[in-house]
Amino acid sequence: MNANPLAPAWLVLPTDANALDPGVWPANAHRGPDGDITFSGVSAASLTAEFGSPLYVLDEADARARAAHIRESFTAAFAAIGSRVTVYYAGKAFLSAEVARWMTEEGLSIDVASGGELALALAAGVDAGRIGVHGNNKSVLEIESAVAAGAGAIVVDSAIEIERVAEAAKRHGVVQRIRLRTNTGVHAHTHEFLATAREDQKFGVPLFEVVAHVERIRSLDSLEFLGLHSHIGSQIFDVSGFVEAIARLVATHATLLEGGPVPELNLGGGFGIAYTSVDEVVPIEEMARQLAHAVASQSQRHGIPAPDIAIEPGRTIIGPAGVTLYTVGTIKDVEVVTDAGLAVRRYVSVDGGMSDNVRPALYGADYTVRVANRSSGAQPALVRIAGKHCESGDIVVHADYLPGDVAVGDVLAVAATGAYCWSLASNYNYLARPAVVAVNDGTARAIVRRETLTDLLGRDLALTSAHTNDNPGEGATR
Ligand SMILES: Cc1ncc(COP(=O)(O)O)c(C=O)c1O
Repeated sequence: MNANPLAPAWLVLPTDANALDPGVWPANAHRGPDGDITFSGVSAASLTAEFGSPLYVLDEADARARAAHIRESFTAAFAAIGSRVTVYYAGKAFLSAEVARWMTEEGLSIDVASGGELALALAAGVDAGRIGVHGNNKSVLEIESAVAAGAGAIVVDSAIEIERVAEAAKRHGVVQRIRLRTNTGVHAHTHEFLATAREDQKFGVPLFEVVAHVERIRSLDSLEFLGLHSHIGSQIFDVSGFVEAIARLVATHATLLEGGPVPELNLGGGFGIAYTSVDEVVPIEEMARQLAHAVASQSQRHGIPAPDIAIEPGRTIIGPAGVTLYTVGTIKDVEVVTDAGLAVRRYVSVDGGMSDNVRPALYGADYTVRVANRSSGAQPALVRIAGKHCESGDIVVHADYLPGDVAVGDVLAVAATGAYCWSLASNYNYLARPAVVAVNDGTARAIVRRETLTDLLGRDLALTSAHTNDNPGEGATR
């Protein structure tokens, strides 16, 4: 059988369209004896039968292991150059009370990016001193809440925020620890990085302004300067972007040391994961070693001790630990004229889409899909997994091969959806957002319930009578 000419060049025709690449799927995803996929011992079909479809599934042991692994790898690599590391879990990737608990139990601190994420972390029992607060436009109320809670650090993003945080801290009679977000001019994306002197983006203050801002911070009694913060991008496979940013940051860090203490340097997150078998991920230990080497050599160059470091990974911890399960609703073959003649693309439509995973529509992101309720010896067919929204760009998986007998009612699993899917979910077309289920050691439990029609209609003030129908609604087949 030949590859379908409509397949992208990177997509290899599989010898077995049932196979689960361990680089892409959660650690505890396997084909069971009946050919179905089990997640930590729980079958995909039993998960959708019990919790409905679509459904987000998180492999708890995998998420915890990834959190522990990145903490241990960075701690070891930086201990070797005489510096300590604080690892913040970037809650924007996925934040629920249960996941916050896993992360703190694995020794991580938590980063939040809004008052809502802060409230969630605090309600989940996260020690405020272990919370870092982000945002380029924090409201006065958000700053007040963070200061009042005793947030361990606030990352200020502008001159205005320096004053706002200082005033809030003064009102509360505390000294607030802050980092200054800097725009290093280095922007890394996937396999390339761009380094400019001045980057045209909303986050941070340019490096050449840093000294003046830090002087201002140091002049304010209610603030304690912790150090610089930089986040150069997301889904990064190329270490050289970090290395370039570190060169620029350590040079500025050294200048700042001339004016007072600079306890730490925060390098942000952005470590890439595999969404498909062709994504070549830099192993975390290797990333940690290379970053530590860059920090050590730049520190030596500037004659300063290697600073203590903070990092903020999100995706690399929770992304690969998650999958989304869908149920197939309709299938149609579309004939397309190509240079190689007529080709067929099979559109397989599922009961979710851009409301539960907007990344393909937003970033053109690629994903991997498998039939999860059974395996099949049928010849592979090129498929496009489409959602159910009124939008032609509503695609969940642009291209993959599934067994050609994929059928209505099959359960599909899409890999690596743990990060930036649930957290970016919407109610487009009034679809109820799916539940999130944690699987561990043969058991499954919902950690976030599915939305109901009552949730969806409950905020519309023109609806006079309270809607009490708890039917999960269109898009949920439970
Ligand atoms: C400031 C900051 N830190 C950390 C992260 C986490 O990035 P990732 O999930 O790619 O590791 C982000 C993501 O956008 C970010 O903006």
